[in-house]
Amino acid sequence: MELEHLKKVFNQFNHSTNFLNHKELVSGHINDTYLIETSGDSKFVLQRINHLVFKDVPGLVTNKVNVSKHLLTKLKHLPKNELKRRVLSFVPAKNGDYYYNDINGNYWNLMVFIEDSVTFETVKNEEVAYEGGKLFGRFLNLTSDFDASKLTEVIPKFHDMSFRFSQFEESLKVATKERLTKAKDLIEKVHHLKEEMHIIQRLKESGEIQLRVTHNDTKISNALFDKNNKGLCVIDTDTVMPGVVHYDFGDAIRTICNTASEDEKNLELVNFNLDLYKAYTKGFLEEVESALTPTEIKYLPLAAKTMIFIMAIRFLTDYLNGNIYYKVAYPEHNFDRAKNQLKLIESFEKQFTETEVKINKL
Ligand SMILES: Nc1ncnc2c1ncn2[C@@H]1O[C@H](COP(=O)(O)OP(=O)(O)O)[C@@H](O)[C@H]1O
Ligand SMILES: [Mg+2]
Repeated sequence: MELEHLKKVFNQFNHSTNFLNHKELVSGHINDTYLIETSGDSKFVLQRINHLVFKDVPGLVTNKVNVSKHLLTKLKHLPKNELKRRVLSFVPAKNGDYYYNDINGNYWNLMVFIEDSVTFETVKNEEVAYEGGKLFGRFLNLTSDFDASKLTEVIPKFHDMSFRFSQFEESLKVATKERLTKAKDLIEKVHHLKEEMHIIQRLKESGEIQLRVTHNDTKISNALFDKNNKGLCVIDTDTVMPGVVHYDFGDAIRTICNTASEDEKNLELVNFNLDLYKAYTKGFLEEVESALTPTEIKYLPLAAKTMIFIMAIRFLTDYLNGNIYYKVAYPEHNFDRAKNQLKLIESFEKQFTETEVKINKL
């Protein structure tokens, strides 16, 4: 990104300070993120929001700004210094909007940089899993009195299982014979799990589990920690929209509890880490249990399986479509990812029955 342009964009925001220099923060996967150092006390995070992924950027920005304002109100009892580290603080542009649309049609937003913080790409120990669980649990708890119907659905049908199945069925029609043959076992497994993988969606549709404010991208790299590995703040709230608790719990577990990366081809290395599951769940429930119904709690383990499955079916669909959505390093990449996620489900199931782990007994 050209320095002059970045400076110009930064100066469209209401910060009454001067741009000194910038550094790209490369740990994100979706947006372009820059740390801006200034002549004043605060540093800022300037982000270009990926409008190819997000079709309604003004709606997205309104979502996250309103959720942050809500969190601020709920946490106003905290000392000011502490509060600044616990909630994302967005800076309005000079025109009053919380985003700026530049001459190239790119959307930008600005927030205050939270000092002395770190993010993790993977979870190496139970302490981090526990702290992560607390952070995402607290986020759900503090937003449980926010009317989710006021939020824009930034990616429609994102976690909708019927939608993912219909995309899968379509891909079966267009796939080459060769790909269909190679994926035969995986396709069978997907069909076999179809009913069970719709349970949470049916409960949502019947109103037995309620719509709430959910984060929808609860991987550990979207949690900010302090230098002592204590959780500070949930970040990357671009995907905040109405959802069910199971999306946030399940996706966190999917990304935290795989003993290998989701690209790992050697399936012997792909296992479900039950200790990290227990640690995350403990932190999560400590913070949010009081806001959940017994039905919501009962289906948390199934949420883990369901969110792993939804990635399996999405990878498999993309493989059958000839790799049109996810970036691939080689032609079988999506096939390997789907196989990886289905192995993770197998390992999850095996451990849950072997040890008879029940969530409320952890
Ligand atoms: N307010 C903030 N304070 C400190 N660091 C931040 C802040 N917001 C983002 N970051 C850093 O920038 C990285 C990318 O930001 P994120 O919002 O997660 O973007 P992406 O959507 O691309 O993942 C984060 O992983 C984190 O390291
Ligand atoms: Mg992120």
